[in-house]
Amino acid sequence: MTVRQPTDSINRLLARRAEARRALLGWFAGAARDLPFRRRRDPYAVWIAEVMLQQTTVAAATPYWEAFMARFPDAAALAAASEEEVLRLWSGLGYYRRARNLLAAARLVAAERGGELPGDVAGLRALPGVGAYTAAAVASQAFGVPAPALDGNALRVYARLAAVEGDGLTGSAACAVKAAAEGLIDPDAPGDWNQAVMELGATVCVPRAPRCGACPLATLCGGRAGGDPETFGQARARPATTAVLRAAAIVRDRRGRFLLRRIGPEERNGGLWEPPTVELARGAEAAVSTWNGSLAARLRDGLAARFGLDAAVGAPLGRARHSVTTHRIVVHAAAAELRGPAPRGAGWRWLAPGRLAEEALSGEARKLLAIARRAGPAAG
Ligand code: ADE
Repeated sequence: MTVRQPTDSINRLLARRAEARRALLGWFAGAARDLPFRRRRDPYAVWIAEVMLQQTTVAAATPYWEAFMARFPDAAALAAASEEEVLRLWSGLGYYRRARNLLAAARLVAAERGGELPGDVAGLRALPGVGAYTAAAVASQAFGVPAPALDGNALRVYARLAAVEGDGLTGSAACAVKAAAEGLIDPDAPGDWNQAVMELGATVCVPRAPRCGACPLATLCGGRAGGDPETFGQARARPATTAVLRAAAIVRDRRGRFLLRRIGPEERNGGLWEPPTVELARGAEAAVSTWNGSLAARLRDGLAARFGLDAAVGAPLGRARHSVTTHRIVVHAAAAELRGPAPRGAGWRWLAPGRLAEEALSGEARKLLAIARRAGPAAG
């Protein structure tokens, strides 16, 4: 990336960097949420927290971080775990590739570095799953490296402070935002600085109706000086979404256990378990959201074609909705009964309803099985 000369607004901002550092770090000392992962500053703990926080809110990630740290207190403990167990602890957090990359990186760090994470941005970035953001977040918080961590919140904060026009994620706007961030970050407290910027973005400098009255940087902010800070640092329009229609067969044995299939490694959520589920349609055709005989027949045919399952599809039990990246998914649960022998092998299992909480299920599978349980033991 060619770095453009910082514009006048960036120069004006950087001329007051000492004031900005005092104001923001002073604010953070009082306003920082007391979060469990902020009490452990060793590289491993920071790394796990930052990977979890990438696509997940602080509130949702915190209990997962605590359970993960209790079970895998360091890289060596994680490296020794099976993928199945790591996925089980990750179950419900989503974006499971993060968990698989963590495991691969922990194994590398345990085998080649005596369990110690690299202490510089380039070394961290060489680990599986560690991108520019995570490397900077870990290097700054755990090793005191003055690297700005630019997540969505931070990009917006810097874009407003420096009055950088454009979406802040691409082209010259990205270069200008980066120049502002690199000039502002406090070399004496880069980890606190980065966290303070993200915290400010999450709680004060929010996308719509920023609370400038509560902002410690208000008097330095180029966006506010121009009168309309909201216009800076807005994310690009979201990409168009695709509707996806799926259906799951809820098959139970005489003991009430559910038939589950292990999702293949090349599929989304690979390695997790779910009731056998097939995609019925996507795009305009997926707009049908009420269950009907034709969907039942397509589920039956899909079960046969994809998994070799011979099943009679019965009553609809309910449906769940969820979104993954740009996909808006509607998934129906339908009771089904096997007509042939039960499938065997490592890719299939029967699971008792009381054990669902412990298993490595996809988020979608959890919703489907909750629907099935509400429908009662007789259904399916
Ligand atoms: N988002 C990601 N990491 C964070 C952190 N350490 N503090 C606040 N928000 C964050």
